[in-house]
Order: sequence, then C-alpha cells, then structure tokens
Amino acid sequence: MLFSRRQVLQSTLALAMLPRTALASADALIARPDTQQIAPEGYPATPVWGYGGGVPGPEIRVRQGGRVRRTLVNALPQPTTVHWHGIRIDNAMDGVPGLTQDAVQKDSSFDYDFVVPDAGTYWYHAHNRSMEQVARGLYGPLIVDEVDGPDVDQDLTLMLDDWRLDPETGQISDDFDNGHDLSHAGRLGNLVTVNGRFDPSFPVQTAERLRLRLVNAANARVFDVALDGVAGWIVALDGMPLAKPLAVEEAFPLAPAQRADLIVDVTAEAGQTASVVSIERDGAFGLVRFDVSGVSANSVRPDIVPLPPNPVPEIDLQDAPLHRMTMQGGAMRWLDHAKMGDTVLSGRELAQLGRFWALNGYAERPDDPFLDMRVGEVHQIEFVNETAFPHAMHLHGHHFRLILPDGALGPWRDTILVGRGQVRRIALAADNPGNWLLHCHMLGHAASGMMSWFRVS
Ligand code: C2O
Ligand code: CU
Ligand code: CU
Repeated sequence: MLFSRRQVLQSTLALAMLPRTALASADALIARPDTQQIAPEGYPATPVWGYGGGVPGPEIRVRQGGRVRRTLVNALPQPTTVHWHGIRIDNAMDGVPGLTQDAVQKDSSFDYDFVVPDAGTYWYHAHNRSMEQVARGLYGPLIVDEVDGPDVDQDLTLMLDDWRLDPETGQISDDFDNGHDLSHAGRLGNLVTVNGRFDPSFPVQTAERLRLRLVNAANARVFDVALDGVAGWIVALDGMPLAKPLAVEEAFPLAPAQRADLIVDVTAEAGQTASVVSIERDGAFGLVRFDVSGVSANSVRPDIVPLPPNPVPEIDLQDAPLHRMTMQGGAMRWLDHAKMGDTVLSGRELAQLGRFWALNGYAERPDDPFLDMRVGEVHQIEFVNETAFPHAMHLHGHHFRLILPDGALGPWRDTILVGRGQVRRIALAADNPGNWLLHCHMLGHAASGMMSWFRVS
C-alpha cells in the first residue's frame, strides 16, 4: 500500500527543504550513511546511504564533450563502486566490480575521470550489491548540457524512486535478499519520492515551458507516467534525442534506469495545480506538483523543435548477425536447471543459492562473454522473455536502437522493457572496446541470475 497524498495533506501542507551537507571538496563523492526525511513530515526520519549530500547525490552537470572527475571515497560499511549509467564511457571507468575494476573497500577511494560524448539526462549509481546500495539511496543525476540547448523557462531534474519503509520507525526494511521479491517483480516500495522527497512541489506560471528530466531510480517499479495540467512532448529517451518529438497523449512506461526528457507547457490556470502522475492499479498517483501562479510573459510558445542529435554511430542492418538472449525463470515458470560456471544445477538447488532467473541458460554472469564483437560491427540481439514478468534489459557502454515490428529502426536506448512473453529486437553498433555488462535493471533480478556480458575488441 502506498502512502497517499491525501494522508499527508491532512497532517501538513508544507514539506521542509532538506539541509544539504557541503561536500568536503568539489571533486569528492563521499559514499556514506546519512539521515533524511524521506517519509512525509510527522513520520520518523530515515537512515539512508548517500553521496555526501543526502539522496539523491549532488547533480553533476557538464557541457557535452566535457570531462567529469570525481574521487569516490567509501565511508560505507561495505565495498562499493560508481557506475555512470548511459554514458558511452571508457571501459576502465564503467564501475563494474570484477569486470572493469576492483570494488572500492571501506575507507579507500577510486578516481573516476571520463569524457561525456553525448548530451542528455544520465545518472550515476552504486554498482556493488546494487539491490541494497541503490535501495538505500546511492544514486544521483548526471546532466550533460547541449552546446545549444532548447529555450525553456525551467529545467527540472526529477528522480523517481520508491522506498520500502517501516512507517513506525522510518527504517528501510533490510530484507534485500527476500526470495519472494527476487523471484517475482522485484523489490517494490510503499513510498514514492521525487528527488528524495515525498510529493514535492515547484512554482510555475501558466504558459511557462518546462524541461522535465525524469529518471527512474527505483529498484523494480515501472512507472506509468501521465501529465495533468501540463502538455507537451517527449524529446529524448535514455539521454538520446528523438528525431521527432513525441506528443504525450497518454501514459507512457518508464522502467527502472530509463529516462525521459519532456518539454511541456503549463496549461493549468493560476491558482490550479498541475502534476506529473503515475497510473497505479488503484488510480492516478501524484509524483510532482506544480503550483501555478500568474501567467508567463512568453505566453505563446512556438512549436517544438527536436534536440540536436548526439554523435551516435550509423546502424546498417544488412549482414548484421542475429543473437538470441533467452530469459527464463522466476515465479510461475520456475527454472528447471541452469548453469553457474560449468556446473549445471537444478531449479531447487539454484533457489537455495538465491538464484531464480537465467539468461541463455546461466544463472550468474558466465565466464565467457555472451557475444564477442569487433569494433565497427553491427549485431542484432533478440530478447525472448519466457518468464511471467517484465524485465528492463540494460547494456553498458553502448546505446542501441530498437528494431520495430516492421523492421524499421526505432529510438536509441540503453534500457528496454521486455514484457512478459514478449520478444524484442535491438541493433547494436559495437564501437566502444571493452568488457560490458548486459543485465536486467530490476536490481534483485540481476542479483539472482539476470546478468550477462559482452566484449568489444
Ligand atoms: Cu544502471 Cu549496470 O547499471
Ligand atoms: Cu549502465
Ligand atoms: Cu528482470
């Protein structure tokens, strides 16, 4: 059951701004325990893990083509790393323990230093025991500004998350390895926040043009996002501009790790409230409120223009070999058997080890890559979801294009939702050398079997 907006409105109208602790130095990203008022005022504060300034971590903002340098300092009780999600990054900076670097031990540090080739909305998050560390709050926005960006009145980053809190104590429930969650839809919370706050509001004026950068940082929840009192277009997905902005006419899904950049105009009148809502089983649920007062001077806005394209590779499907990625397991379709290393284990043995899912027959990241490609090649991957649940399949180091049912190339993405029983194809231009993960971004699924990798050499 979710906390409802009505419930909080009855107790108090205003949600206090959170004090932000200053970073020790501009270049440090200190992962450490913290406390934050996650639940509505009146509920206890919540012990979280953050990047030195509460949850979400500090917004890292850089010009396209610029360089990001951060020293991760680990002040957590367990090893960690940072992954820069969606950045077509130098492999050594990708933050995957055991594949691109060693996990950073407690009281140690690691220097991340990379260039960002693409403009858009990205994010960073912990990549060791992610299902616990991200759930505790280890994530933040990474925004890459276009050299020549769109003309908007406000540019708002909105990081969505859901938390599983004990309403009595405010504690995060620490059953991260709960076999029921792992084998079903993943860890779903009971409190939805935006930018680490419940039901935040932003002042706007009628006819203002807003850029909304939605990031889904939740462990497993797929938000069905809809607009009320603002109207406009999706202009980018997973950071990458759409060649043709898409008018938002109905709810659209935002799976874990996905981003959507919207450009919207405020259509609600002064005195009204506009909102971004999530469509849940029991109705529309408010994520963000816009309190409208006054009318913007720019009251008539021109039509939308696409964002400038990013320097992505050409994709030519001619001669692109097709590889199948079969997704199996989970509740109702239980694994019969799967491999860990060279050993074949029965579904029952796997369940005892906390493994419920398999990608191409492996219930953990295999020793050999699922695909070995050469720079310059184009490959097709077909995800075949034989499970009874949707999965948010993510590739590191590359964006890829969806192949639409009619064979045409769809939008560029780094994470796609593959529904239960669904088959979806993507086209990938291998242009970034290294060892790259491919996994489900429902983080409990990744931890319980849905983890693979590919190599580009
Ligand atoms: Cu955002 Cu490997 O993940
Ligand atoms: Cu990633
Ligand atoms: Cu999954």
